[in-house]
Amino acid sequence: MRTQVVIVGGGPSGLLLGQLLHRKGIETIILERKTRDYVLGRIRAGILETGLVDMMREAGVSDRMDKECFIHHGTCISYENEMFDINFQELIGQNVIVYGQTEVTRDLYDARDACGGRTLFEVEDVEIRDAETDSPHVTFTIDGSAKRIDCDFVAGCDGFHGVSRKTIPDTVRKDYEKVFPFGWLGVLSETPPVHDELVYANSARGFALCSMRNEHLSRYYVQCDLDDDVFEWSDDRFWDELKRRLPESVADKLVTGPSIEKSIAPLRSFVCEPMRWGRLFLCGDAAHIVPPTGAKGLNTAASDVHYLFEGLVQYYQDNDTNGIDRYSERALARIWKAERFSWATTNMLHRFPDQSEFDLKMQRAEIESLHYNETAQKWFAQNYVGLPY
Ligand code: APR
Ligand code: PHB
Repeated sequence: MRTQVVIVGGGPSGLLLGQLLHRKGIETIILERKTRDYVLGRIRAGILETGLVDMMREAGVSDRMDKECFIHHGTCISYENEMFDINFQELIGQNVIVYGQTEVTRDLYDARDACGGRTLFEVEDVEIRDAETDSPHVTFTIDGSAKRIDCDFVAGCDGFHGVSRKTIPDTVRKDYEKVFPFGWLGVLSETPPVHDELVYANSARGFALCSMRNEHLSRYYVQCDLDDDVFEWSDDRFWDELKRRLPESVADKLVTGPSIEKSIAPLRSFVCEPMRWGRLFLCGDAAHIVPPTGAKGLNTAASDVHYLFEGLVQYYQDNDTNGIDRYSERALARIWKAERFSWATTNMLHRFPDQSEFDLKMQRAEIESLHYNETAQKWFAQNYVGLPY
């Protein structure tokens, strides 16, 4: 087999890149380790920056998003019984879109089917070979048969646990990592959201977040210990703990119900440099991870896709390698700013096991500065809605 771009990974990064390239007549084959249903079964945040919304439109997959999404003009931050709104619309004239990542992925798969894009599921033993030459190829097995695809480029969109990043030699690659000493226990419930916007809560008992998927489906999180067992968290224990971390005015409105999904996720910051090795380009979680506090995971994947898409189109249409040669530098410049925002909001809102009384005073002062200082709110808003590409 031969194609122009092999995309390893059929998550949001790979699918969005594939759809954008298709619209420019550039052929791709996506190799996905899991089944489509498995990929679509993942529960993830759905806060979309303007840049991602624009790319969904450019990819021709925005019809359902435009019908079903929620426009959020701001977000709320609470600390003990205080709560304030950061109004993005008033501060900087921008908003964010709430539309589940599962729906983004579903829309992209449907679009790929409609355009006849090739996606191979349940592939195994993927190996990216000769990436440092002008003739890279990818080998893998499917249904027990060994296969090979020759290509011009490989997009490594296979997430944090994929093979792409590891294809870059240790002597070339530098990884930066910070593991946070806590996790998030998340619950999905078929209950109405407690508030019309998200509520990020700092409390003496730890962080909490009130989010949503639609008016009948809510998503809640409480900070938990890394060694917590999700089976030790009954629904009643979860709801009681969530209420104790929210201002009374919010807790009193909380509609509880049975959890339809409950899981614990660790928090880490991670960046791999460079994001290119020869004709292999890393995109999304394959290259970087953020703690979910800033809702940047999907959105940093999107900006990678933007830069790589631009570079590949420039190569194929103008025979100009400037875009792909600058890909890693451009992508990393924006990624590090998103990493900083995610790290800073995580530090501002969570309780750390080793925090001193002084540290707690600093955390309180930072939240109060954000509460009462318009300049601080504008900077928060610019980062939350997404810095320009
Ligand atoms: N071969 C083929 N596919 C693979 C391999 C492999 N060796 N390893 C992983 N994959 C697939 C995974 O099954 C997954 O479907 O690659 C896909 C990677 O998707 P994501 O992990 O969702 O990463 P990405 O597409 O970059 O999307 C980033 O997803 O994890 C969230 O918070 C993150 O919102 C962000 C978004
Ligand atoms: C979510 O809805 O799952 C969500 C929203 C915002 C975040 C993190 C998660 O910052």
